[in-house]
Amino acid sequence: MVGGDSTGKGTKKEIKQQILAESAQLESLYLNLYKGSEVEFEALIELMTDALWQRRAALKKLDLEETKWVNSAKTIGMMLYVDLFAETIEGLTEKLDYLEALGITLIHLMPVLEKRVGENDGGYAVKNYREIDPQIGDMAQFNQLVSQLHKRGIRVCIDYVINHTANDHEWALKAIGGDVTYQSYYWFFDNEETPRRFEKTLNQVFPNVAPGNFTYLSGMDKWVMTTFYPFQWDLNYQNPIVLNEMIDILLFLANQGVDMIRLDAIPYIWKAIGTSSRNMQEAHIILKIFREVISICAPSVALLGEAIVSPETILTYFGDASSPECHVLYNASYMVEIWNAIATRDARHIALMPHFESLNGGNWINYARCHDDIGWGLDENRIRQLGFDFYAHKNYLIDFYYGILKDSFSTGELYEYDPVTGDARNSGTLASLAGLEKALATNDQYMKELSFKRIELIHALFILKRGIPMLYAGDELGQLNNYSYKSDVHKAHDSRWLHRGAHELRLLTSGNKIHRLVYERIKSLIAFRKHLLISTEILEERLFHIGNDRILGRCWKVDRSEQPYIQLFNFSEDRQWLHTSDLKRNSWHGVWVDQLTGKEFNFEEDTILLGPYEYFLLKYKK
Ligand code: GLC
Repeated sequence: MVGGDSTGKGTKKEIKQQILAESAQLESLYLNLYKGSEVEFEALIELMTDALWQRRAALKKLDLEETKWVNSAKTIGMMLYVDLFAETIEGLTEKLDYLEALGITLIHLMPVLEKRVGENDGGYAVKNYREIDPQIGDMAQFNQLVSQLHKRGIRVCIDYVINHTANDHEWALKAIGGDVTYQSYYWFFDNEETPRRFEKTLNQVFPNVAPGNFTYLSGMDKWVMTTFYPFQWDLNYQNPIVLNEMIDILLFLANQGVDMIRLDAIPYIWKAIGTSSRNMQEAHIILKIFREVISICAPSVALLGEAIVSPETILTYFGDASSPECHVLYNASYMVEIWNAIATRDARHIALMPHFESLNGGNWINYARCHDDIGWGLDENRIRQLGFDFYAHKNYLIDFYYGILKDSFSTGELYEYDPVTGDARNSGTLASLAGLEKALATNDQYMKELSFKRIELIHALFILKRGIPMLYAGDELGQLNNYSYKSDVHKAHDSRWLHRGAHELRLLTSGNKIHRLVYERIKSLIAFRKHLLISTEILEERLFHIGNDRILGRCWKVDRSEQPYIQLFNFSEDRQWLHTSDLKRNSWHGVWVDQLTGKEFNFEEDTILLGPYEYFLLKYKK
């Protein structure tokens, strides 16, 4: 880290010298990617100098700690949309007691920057990266919020949409106006020939709601690349000036005091004809450049990468030891495994799937639901190895969470359904997918109890896991699907709005008491994790074999004790027995105590019984 101490700023010239002294790696990455762009590199150093010069002393003080907080086991996140959670930033400020009482220590704010008017993909079409969306407040209020949160020991993550801007961003408007400099910020084509060649090797992200990767602009008689919606124009990172602009904004956001910046859709940022234009080597180099820049100019700020791809590929976004990329990544595969195991009651869908430790001092975010759909990124080979037909299995999951199978407890909707292949993803809130909506509709006491237990189990699976647990706002109340999006013309076609309803705090006091019970249980799970991990560090987490496929076995090797913590999770609504030989073969003997309930288990007896969806966290007693 450079930038001097927290008291004296140093002159601009000194700051520039310090940056230059630390930028050998940055320079080599940059000039390898952009050969002959010495002038642009010099401009990058200038903008970094300005940003570091402007960085407040209080933030520089935080910078001394770098991103150590990212690995603190006490970090518990919640992701939320400000407008849905509390209407405005001021409203959110008033609800901080609620979040603090729940035990949240990291708030992951979904897009808060000024968004396109009209349809805007939930804010992922940014009109102005330097202003807060006027519908929720302004930058002064945002700064206030950040300092309030910091006073409470809560960290803040903000979304930064780097793959594209909205088509009403000032760069896009200038491009539309004929300014070739700004046209070179995007991927413009005079005719359809090159887009057609591109399309040959590109996949589609939104094949139904926004087919194709290019949009014809009749006013300009040109084509522009739009991987996502037609109003989201892909930025052209082959142009170093684009990267400089985006780094300038990155540092502007970092200087607002945020602790983490979520880089949206990172696999897509580098495009090349004749390739899939996903996960390209150059995309990694851009991320390494982001990382170098942030480590020099705002080293306490962590980069969270959004890469929803196969587990092996997600892992590559931690970068390599000599040149790291993201500090934190979403454990998207684990999320899919959870839902797979819940539908099938088969814990092997977690136990036998590939799991990877985070790399380069980074960390995973573990979660079960977020603002997006559940895309069935299953490991094809492993599913086959388990004896299932891959497509039949995937279709089973799609139909199960759509709720149309006879044995399904779920209420959800399809997302991006393809009538030709039958492929789809699924939408729905955690509680509705876990059965609460059906149970309440039928007023069936048994189903209510089971769905409650499922909701708890799903939360326990990611709260009691190494990494950063991330809740999705509303799930802590067992909030159900919200169908109001269907009457909004800008949303009706996109079923992800099903699980983006307004936060229903009233459920705590009115409505079915089950919501309050869900809240209490999740709150105590969070408190439990924090308490447990104050004095205990998880050195290693691994899954171990259990002869009963309904039960997942996971253990933590911890400091202070030679014996690990043993976790057992029953994925079935039926009671399940576990033969203690499954434990003894790991050399675990004697009496163990469940840390959640105080129940004791003697491994010298033959079996351990787990009730419906029951889970334990066992510690050695004697
Ligand atoms: C990310 C967001 C998603 C959005 C897309 C395009 O995947 O999570 O909600 O639609 O990027 O910006």
